[in-house]
Amino acid sequence: MEGGWPLEGGVLLCLIVSLLLPGRGEAFTINCSGFDQYGVDPAAFQAVFDRKAFRPVINNSIPTHVNISFTLSAILEVNAQLQLLTSFLWMNLMWDNPLISWNPEECISLKRLTVSAENLWIPDIFILESMDVDRAPPGLTAFVNSEGRMKYDRPVRVTSICNLDIFYFPFDQQNCTLTFSSFLYTVDSMLLGMDKEVWEITDTSRNLIQTQGEWELLGINKATPKMLVGSNLYDQITFYVAIRRRPRLYVINLLVPSGFLVVIDALSFYLPAESETRAPFKMTLLLGYNVFLLMMNDLLPASGTPLISVYFALCLSLMVVSLLETIFITYLLHLATTQPPPMPRWLHSLLLYWASPRTCCPTVPQKGNKGLGPTTTHLPGVKEPVELVGKVAGPREAELTGSPESRAQEEQEAQRQPLVDLWMQFSHMMDTLLFRLYLLFMATSVVTVIILWNT
Ligand SMILES: *[C@@H]1O[C@H](CO)[C@@H](O)[C@H](O)[C@H]1NC(C)=O
Ligand SMILES: *[C@@H]1O[C@H](CO)[C@@H](O)[C@H](O)[C@H]1NC(C)=O
Ligand SMILES: *[C@@H]1O[C@H](CO)[C@@H](O)[C@H](O)[C@H]1NC(C)=O
Ligand SMILES: *[C@@H]1O[C@H](CO)[C@@H](O)[C@H](O)[C@H]1NC(C)=O
Repeated sequence: MEGGWPLEGGVLLCLIVSLLLPGRGEAFTINCSGFDQYGVDPAAFQAVFDRKAFRPVINNSIPTHVNISFTLSAILEVNAQLQLLTSFLWMNLMWDNPLISWNPEECISLKRLTVSAENLWIPDIFILESMDVDRAPPGLTAFVNSEGRMKYDRPVRVTSICNLDIFYFPFDQQNCTLTFSSFLYTVDSMLLGMDKEVWEITDTSRNLIQTQGEWELLGINKATPKMLVGSNLYDQITFYVAIRRRPRLYVINLLVPSGFLVVIDALSFYLPAESETRAPFKMTLLLGYNVFLLMMNDLLPASGTPLISVYFALCLSLMVVSLLETIFITYLLHLATTQPPPMPRWLHSLLLYWASPRTCCPTVPQKGNKGLGPTTTHLPGVKEPVELVGKVAGPREAELTGSPESRAQEEQEAQRQPLVDLWMQFSHMMDTLLFRLYLLFMATSVVTVIILWNT
């Protein structure tokens, strides 16, 4: 037993030495004497395959230079709630393996070989923002040329974390970062570089992205910061991927219908205030708008407060305000036609002032010129309620025909008539005034939202 140990150790040592020596002796040149008969001889590469667990260097103090580039081939999803960007890219890695080299003239002018990636050392380049397990398909191969330059391409589906700002939704641009870095090799053993310019990456990506999806690629920028973790310095390359949303879907489905409903709401002010239809009409619009918002809710980003929500709230509040205004005017008209309270002097003089021809607004003076006297019944707006008053008084009149009370009533009615007219006048003026205020508010808020969207 005790004699067995040194023997076993000796065999192991012999094995290791025999593995290491051939390479070191012939400066790692591949012996390809048998390649022309049976194809590539795996034994010629055995020394390289056996060392795949270690970084392929002759002198351990020389860092491996890895050139990184990638091609973005699809932008699959942008999730604002989880702040994730899912994209698909081809990652290209290039590095030198000093253990592989051959003379192409000796080796049936073989310049390039493909080698299964399982048998080779592959640099552990990761995307730092990636929030998902890297699921590269199995069975990938790498190219190796006669000078030992390795080229390894890998498709990666990256779900990367990205600081998404959806305030300007649906006119938003996002700037996501993809940071390529080694997982554990520090700058002493691995340096990163690029053999392509960023604009080349941008161009090939732009040509490759066939999807007419929601997002389009604006551009890619690059920065090369070093990352210090504890006392270890890591080399890394950061790519800034700028993408822009195509807003057409949202403009057609959200902004335009909403705008139409508000315009209809504004136009409904032209329905006569005395008609019973204005308030129900506005109510229906409000209801319809709520249903619209409910249906379109899943088109909106699930988190944050984009400007479009403010726009919707604004449209809703405009509709509510216009409904409230209609209720107020209806109340005023009702008051005027049933039991008009005595008009305060200041209001009367204000009415006179407004109605005078000096004022700018054409409709109000027109009404006022004719309206303030006792002969107000020509006004289109005023006519109907007067008839209404007549109708209310009708049955009573019929009951009391001929009696002195009826005549007194008539007189009272005649006395009341100017007051009713004045109040009607006032209601219509209020209606016009509030409508203009509403228009002003609408215009300012729409302009504000548009300006905010354009900045
Ligand atoms: C290459 O291998 C063959 C056997 O396969 C051997 O005869 C030859 O000597 C080797 N050449 C060198 C340079 O090692
Ligand atoms: C190899 O490493 C040693 C230190 O281990 C260093 O002194 C030497 O310069 C290195 N050789 C080359 C070629 O860099
Ligand atoms: C990396 O790219 C540079 C050019 O930017 C080039 O000089 C170098 O040889 C490349 N290295 C590898 C391993 O491809
Ligand atoms: C993205 O952000 C980085 C820094 O945060 C900046 O350097 C780069 O220019 C931005 N890219 C675009 C297209 O805005």
